[in-house]
Amino acid sequence: MSPKWQQKLTTPLKIGSLEVNSRVLQSPLSGVTDLVFRRLVRRYAPESMMYTEMVHASQVYHARELPKIMEVDPNEKPISIQLFDCRPNFLAEAAQKAVEEGADTVDINMGCPVNKITKKGGGSSLLRQPEVAEAIVRNVVEAVSVPVTVKTRIGWDDHEINILEFAQRLEAAGAQMLTLHGRTRAQGYNGAARWEWIKRVKEVLSIPVIANGDIFSVEAALKCLEETGADGVMCSRGTLGYPFLVGEIDHFLKTGQKLKPPTPVDKLLCAREHLQALWEYKGDRGIRQARKHLAWYCKGFPGAVELRNQLTQVKTVEQGVELINQAIGRN
Ligand SMILES: Cc1cc2nc3c(=O)[nH]c(=O)nc-3n(C[C@H](O)[C@H](O)[C@H](O)COP(=O)(O)O)c2cc1C
Repeated sequence: MSPKWQQKLTTPLKIGSLEVNSRVLQSPLSGVTDLVFRRLVRRYAPESMMYTEMVHASQVYHARELPKIMEVDPNEKPISIQLFDCRPNFLAEAAQKAVEEGADTVDINMGCPVNKITKKGGGSSLLRQPEVAEAIVRNVVEAVSVPVTVKTRIGWDDHEINILEFAQRLEAAGAQMLTLHGRTRAQGYNGAARWEWIKRVKEVLSIPVIANGDIFSVEAALKCLEETGADGVMCSRGTLGYPFLVGEIDHFLKTGQKLKPPTPVDKLLCAREHLQALWEYKGDRGIRQARKHLAWYCKGFPGAVELRNQLTQVKTVEQGVELINQAIGRN
């Protein structure tokens, strides 16, 4: 018989009233997880929870038109819209709009380390204002009928690792799931994620805890799940140029079998589709945004470096498609 930490992973993830038939989640990634990217990830992980890019609540509060990054395809489920701000009333109204847009859960960002956001009291600076964080959760929970979740870090810096108390306050305020990135704000994205803190938080909460940080492979996901006892894992940078990762881990957890890794041609076909879809969805802005994605896809096959240099300068969709087609012919 498999150990307890493994048995749980074959059952649905329960986020309040919502049941999700996958323990692997695609994280919110600003500038990345738009509708086009999520569609690619979902092809390989149809049952996984996905997140929009973080949306500033004041872009929604009293707005006549919702920001494009909040757009959700009516067919994509389960989907969470992630919001950030530090004003409970703004967030409550934005959360209502998120639900109207089709969000199955509303996630509040309490982890973003970017100065521009923390200076205004949002993102990870809420770790230093637990009473505001608590008020946010209470207000949003009261405003919407869907589960409200939080994504955060372990603390502000090594001197202020307060996640145990912080997480318990969020749970008491009504949060239905916590995703924990195992780094402090001061760490940014550097150094190893400290999964030991995820384990400790899991031990004191009753709501699901999702482990985040350094999940770059099936092996890393298994190690993290075993070490932390977490209820699921969330993939982030490992999905850049690799929308296969969530599906690979999900498949392994469900079947115990490893999928065949994508070939260079599979990756190039995916890159081409990504470029074309971004162009259709966003026009010229989509081409500019596609450049970084295309660069991320160009890894681990002959001629990848040269192709990457060319693709980071593409000006039209035709030019990009032509370069990728030539690479497909060579691989
Ligand atoms: C480009 C980029 C954009 C990100 N945008 C968001 C965001 O919008 N919301 C959020 O909660 N976290 C965001 N994050 C943080 C990730 O979701 C994740 O917590 C972090 O990258 C740690 O996981 P990793 O070590 O597997 O990358 C972002 C990270 C990166 C690299």
